[in-house]
Amino acid sequence: MSTPNTYVPGLEGIVAAQTKLSKVDGLAGELVIGGFKLETIANKASFEEMVYMLWNERLPNEKELKDFRKSLAKLRELPEPTLKLLKAIATKKLNMMDALRSAVGTLGLNAPKENQDQWMAQRLLAAFPTVVAAAWRLSHGKRVVAPDPKLGHAANYLYMIEGKAPSDARVRGLETYLNTVIDHGLNASTFTARVIVSTASDFVSAIVGAIGALKGPLHGGAPGPALDMVFEIGDVSKAESVLRKKLAAGERLMGFGHRIYKVRDPRADVLAQAAHEFYEADGDMKFYDLVLDVEKVALRVLEEHKPGRNLQTNVEFYTALLLHGLGLPTGIFSPTFAVGRVGGWLAHCFEQRAAARLIRPQSQYIGETEKHWMSLADR
Ligand code: ACO
Repeated sequence: MSTPNTYVPGLEGIVAAQTKLSKVDGLAGELVIGGFKLETIANKASFEEMVYMLWNERLPNEKELKDFRKSLAKLRELPEPTLKLLKAIATKKLNMMDALRSAVGTLGLNAPKENQDQWMAQRLLAAFPTVVAAAWRLSHGKRVVAPDPKLGHAANYLYMIEGKAPSDARVRGLETYLNTVIDHGLNASTFTARVIVSTASDFVSAIVGAIGALKGPLHGGAPGPALDMVFEIGDVSKAESVLRKKLAAGERLMGFGHRIYKVRDPRADVLAQAAHEFYEADGDMKFYDLVLDVEKVALRVLEEHKPGRNLQTNVEFYTALLLHGLGLPTGIFSPTFAVGRVGGWLAHCFEQRAAARLIRPQSQYIGETEKHWMSLADR
């Protein structure tokens, strides 16, 4: 155990919670979610099954799943004040993560006094896709598409963005993505949510904080820039010079490196498989091949840039490939990550509520202690 005076920058290696939600083995490159190895469940479960499993420690039976879907359908539509706010935001051309954060703050309106955690969890989960789709459409001068009660969670997301029912293959591709990113140990946004719940605050506040943490390019903001990087390269013959120039300018290559994984991120493999299946059936294989070629060059130049650090492909690189293939616009890549991760954030909120322990680390003071007061006139 670390002593209170040991400063650990970035809290690296510090264990600050116990969880049954996911196990991240950074050396073996293994991710277990709710007891399942990621690759055994991500492309099989529906997103609703995955969330139910994390919130209840087991998969639902048929009736439980039907009831859960019904409850979510009832909470998917946005209350009028949220829509009004999104319309106002659209005129300001805010970044989609800022729009999501602002609108989610209003989702606690109408929360009942009883059973508030359950209600807020379902409301947040159900309404996230509606908020993102509405924010996106409004910012592009389009009318909001109301959710279709007959469609599931992932299908509704695509439907509300595009205004037409998506193919089964696209829904499956999106569900695999959402399942893959649903939870990942004590990452920065999950930690933020747990800190907020630990003060006995409410779930909406916790999720607003988590969105703020996810927004940063070192966490969930990387897939858009990763895709932009591939577009900028355009042709594999230019990859080496573009990437070297970025590194020489002190930039980080988006979609590579990870705080915990010292080998390839296992989520990258699951998403690579999903992307391969999707592109082969219905996508631009030339672009798919370019992305894979860029990855190879990036790994080689990163090894030269930081020898021995083993900077590997992370989840965001293949997120960019898959989400682009599914037809999602770059501007909503990070909010789409949040649409999946909110299921895990909320599971952690429940877990933290049960742990009932305020998270309150210490800081090490490194400033002066003997300063003397000077009057304003003397400064
Ligand atoms: N490109 C260039 N250099 C890198 C990269 C990268 N992608 N990643 C790490 N490095 C460098 C660091 O600058 C550091 O150099 P230094 O020792 O000279 O300061 C060295 O490699 C070691 O870095 P780490 O300590 O391993 O990195 P850290 O744990 O602080 O950060 C992080 C991990 C933030 C993910 C980093 O790898 C990064 O910025 N990657 C690019 C952004 C990205 O893809 N983010 C998504 C992460 S996945 C997720 O959160 C869902």
